[in-house]
Amino acid sequence: MRPDWAITPRDRTSSAEAGDFTTAPELSALFGRTVARQVAEIMAHSTPHILELGAGSGKLAADMLAELEQLGSLPDSYSILEISADLRERQQTLLRERLPHLFGRVRWLDALPETFGGAMIANEVLDALPVHLVHWQDSALSQRGVAIDGESFCWQDRPMDDGDLLHAAQQIAAPDGYVSEICLASAG
Ligand SMILES: C[S@@+](CC[C@H](N)C(=O)[O-])C[C@H]1O[C@@H](n2cnc3c(N)ncnc32)[C@H](O)[C@@H]1O
Repeated sequence: MRPDWAITPRDRTSSAEAGDFTTAPELSALFGRTVARQVAEIMAHSTPHILELGAGSGKLAADMLAELEQLGSLPDSYSILEISADLRERQQTLLRERLPHLFGRVRWLDALPETFGGAMIANEVLDALPVHLVHWQDSALSQRGVAIDGESFCWQDRPMDDGDLLHAAQQIAAPDGYVSEICLASAG
């Protein structure tokens, strides 16, 4: 089954209905196989462990593990940190079906480990993290959002109505005119 965010090239005319975008691992195994070669080098210089954040359908993990096996560079462990219960299930199904003999090396985490050595990968994940855009100007704080200007989109500053965001922004001594992201979900 296609992941929620994925559309096939044929769907592009109706992407709003079909999904959002297609990620490279969903298009071709070449992506995972290429990344695997880089990861093999990193593991050779550190330790044979991989941590993947936001593994989607599990396709990247499967393609990488298959290639690393071919290269004789299998990791001792392949950890996945995935917040979606549905995707976690899909990853388990895919990996169990495609690589049953390697399934024992894959584990699912509920939080980032305290320490980690090895190769960490995340494809199309950073832009999925929920952030607020904050603008420091004239000693005031505003939240920057997207508005419509005629037929195009534009940035628009608006009063900050989220107390937690205001508190977080007030802790940062930013110069006048500064714009930056704040991720409340990463606090703690
Ligand atoms: C756009 S998909 C990319 C999936 C996959 N990496 C790929 O390239 O096809 C974003 C992935 O990040 C996961 N994700 C989003 N926020 C996350 C978070 N805070 N921690 C871990 N995973 C997260 C989503 O559930 C999903 O698996």
